[in-house]
Amino acid sequence: MVCLGNICRSPLAEGILQHKAKQHGLNWMVDSAGTAGYHINEPPHRLSQKVSKMNGIDISNLRGRQFVKEDMNNFNKIYVMDEENYAEVKNISRNFWNEEKVDLLLNELYPNENRSVPDPWYGAEEGYHKVFELIDKACDAIIKKYAAVQISK
Ligand code: 4NP
Repeated sequence: MVCLGNICRSPLAEGILQHKAKQHGLNWMVDSAGTAGYHINEPPHRLSQKVSKMNGIDISNLRGRQFVKEDMNNFNKIYVMDEENYAEVKNISRNFWNEEKVDLLLNELYPNENRSVPDPWYGAEEGYHKVFELIDKACDAIIKKYAAVQISK
């Protein structure tokens, strides 16, 4: 799960998907990173933590890190929050870039529409609730899609 700062959107996405995977007995390694290095080693934004906690998910232990090109090899799937993140992941990955692995998270909910998870960084708490809801629905779609693949194997 990748956003710009790894402090608002992608820690929420990591926490939500990991929580759902566990609930479904899926042993997935879920992680998050930012394309920028502004918030390395910082915990998630207090409003991401608050909204997440209100929904039963504790993300207080997460710490910011920057996306590295090796992530392209270490993960099967990389979700980005917006098109700027997509371009930056491509840029950072260089010779490790694998287009098949990377997609906008909301394409799982609205296929081929290339919608963004809006950045709540500059706004009020309401924005964090909206972002939580969007990511939560997208993660439900991911679980539905890949859990079915796993069961059929
Ligand atoms: P995020 O939000 O990409 O969802 O973590 C942001 C966090 C920090 C900054 C921008 C966006 N920043 O400019 O520091």
